[in-house]
Amino acid sequence: MAAPRPARPRLRRLFDPVSGWFRRSERGVNQWLSRSVYPRLPILARVYGAILHRRLTVSEADIAVRDLPEAFDGLTVLLVTDIHLGPFLAPLDLERTFRRLRGLEPDLIVLGGDLTTSRVSEFSEAAELFGVLKAPLGVHAVMGNHDHYNDDPEGLRRAVASAGIEVLHNRHVVLRRDGESLVLAGIDDLNIGSPDLDAALEGAPDEAPVVLVSHNPDVFFEAADRGVALVLAGHTHGGQVRIPGLPVLTRMSRYRLDEGRYAARGADLVVSRGVGVVGLPLRLACPPEAVLVRLRCG
Ligand SMILES: [Fe+2]
Repeated sequence: MAAPRPARPRLRRLFDPVSGWFRRSERGVNQWLSRSVYPRLPILARVYGAILHRRLTVSEADIAVRDLPEAFDGLTVLLVTDIHLGPFLAPLDLERTFRRLRGLEPDLIVLGGDLTTSRVSEFSEAAELFGVLKAPLGVHAVMGNHDHYNDDPEGLRRAVASAGIEVLHNRHVVLRRDGESLVLAGIDDLNIGSPDLDAALEGAPDEAPVVLVSHNPDVFFEAADRGVALVLAGHTHGGQVRIPGLPVLTRMSRYRLDEGRYAARGADLVVSRGVGVVGLPLRLACPPEAVLVRLRCG
């Protein structure tokens, strides 16, 4: 993964994801297609799934974390985000990808949201498969916007927890190694969920550095101001369909935090292109990606 670029808090006001007409219409069309049209075309689920395990890239990044206790120096965190089980990805096709990722032997696995596309059953039918992902410090997840595009987001969280995955829903866990601590916090989706950074960080030990998992990278500046050392995010798909040499066409971050590493206000951000697809069962000039982050004493 390339060196971090400076992130600037210049907001794109025209593309407000909550109240803006463009993003609201885009969301409506996408939900209708994903729920009512694509599931009637089961062949679509095999097109992308058949090539995923061959196309998946694993990017690596060494990130210096300030105040990281020595016990955590070299800790590997595997960020797997935007899997998007559903009309374009069947559980059957995910197994090979999960086995390859498990072979990386990370210390900790983080699922960055958008496990599903628009139904709780998309996860339930694949829940057993998530047992393939194992790490000594556990598998943790946050919810993405698509994980709210169903009738029962709470039910989805329960199903994810039942699969042995720790859901960081506006809360944190304290990871311990040799008597030292590292905080892993997570928040709900910024656009559709009920994100609460205060609740996520409340009661965290003062001396321990914080790694925050947020589906949407746009929390970065606020998190940096709150002393978070590292934010792990997805959501953008890196643009998903791109023209080589041109900037991202479909931009999901209001701060242009499209993919890769960023730095600002003493904090670091990693935005993964993610594993799956939405809208169309293809990626162009934008391969699927998992990211293996290695924490280093800052
Ligand atoms: Fe996504």
